Amino acid sequence: MRQLIIRAMATGTVATLALGACSSGSSDGSAKGRTPYIGVILPDTTSSARWETQDHPALEAAFKAKGVKYDIQNAQGDKAQFQAIADHMLKEGVNVLMIVDLDAASGIAVLTKAKQEGVATIDYDRLTLGGHADYYVSFDNVDVGELQGQGLVQCLQGQTKPIVAEVNGSPTDNNATLFAQGYDSVLGQLYNNGTFVKGPNQSTDNWDNATAGKNFTKMLAQTPNIGGVLVANDGMAQAVIAVLKQHHLNGKVPVTGQDATVPGLQSVLDGDQCMTVFKDSVKEAQAGADLAVNLAKGQTASAANAMVADTVTGKLVQSVELTPEAIVKSNVQDVIAAGAVTKAEVCTAQFAAACAANGIK
Ligand code: GAL
Repeated sequence: MRQLIIRAMATGTVATLALGACSSGSSDGSAKGRTPYIGVILPDTTSSARWETQDHPALEAAFKAKGVKYDIQNAQGDKAQFQAIADHMLKEGVNVLMIVDLDAASGIAVLTKAKQEGVATIDYDRLTLGGHADYYVSFDNVDVGELQGQGLVQCLQGQTKPIVAEVNGSPTDNNATLFAQGYDSVLGQLYNNGTFVKGPNQSTDNWDNATAGKNFTKMLAQTPNIGGVLVANDGMAQAVIAVLKQHHLNGKVPVTGQDATVPGLQSVLDGDQCMTVFKDSVKEAQAGADLAVNLAKGQTASAANAMVADTVTGKLVQSVELTPEAIVKSNVQDVIAAGAVTKAEVCTAQFAAACAANGIK
């Protein structure tokens, strides 16, 4: 069941609903005073380049523009470090804590401690199932998966009964579950009616890119005629493309991704990657910063445009859900125009011709 239960009658923009007091008692930040001091814990630097190349700078810019005190740290994929950073931030007196969890257990521990100390909590990008965060800011992640599935279908046009492999995200990341819900809602029908043949399918602990490459090497050895690969993000897609290159199959076997990272966009431009999904980190960071500052000031009206079900608690979480965009060769320019990456980063000498051919200015 889709986790999105109710979407406010928003026209795709963030609607402001007077949802009354925050979900639980003193956890709206008001117990800790009105001067905003926002703590943000990012998960790692390895699952995706996005956290430090896109999200960190976007959040920093958003907080600076608001003139508020903030502290943005990265747990480097280490759960103990994640907890230590949270403890330090709480001791320093943050009145809102925004996290991207590494897994549910470590996320719950931090969210629980924050609540006990009267600090408002936001799940940023990933919902911590069972965590009781006050708010969730992300994209419609089932939609992300649907775009990936539709993108692969597009790139497999003309192929007869292609065998489709799936390289999924981390089993400890609720987003990976939602992405898979999305792309399997597209691919499942095609497996069932015989248009596609379901090939090997594997999750990837911690989104580890090298693990994705090793797993795909085994997949290809066992199923040499794989026709397409649904890969859940750009970092892992790079690893899969490297394996395909060893077999001179890159560009012939379409591969999907997500995050519109520089390597991912370059692979889309040179035809090694079929598509990626752009989740505008500037918009996500702005929505997160707006919500965090409102909460720190103890403002009860929240800019939520959806309610997302936490399938562990069964509760609805007040959420801000943004809209993802499928990126193929012809609209890579959209990511550059949004300011998430620069033309100089993408259109290096090796990609200059592809950039020019696809209207990147
Ligand atoms: C997900 C995130 C994606 C993906 C992955 C790797 O939770 O929503 O953007 O890149 O993590 O970090």
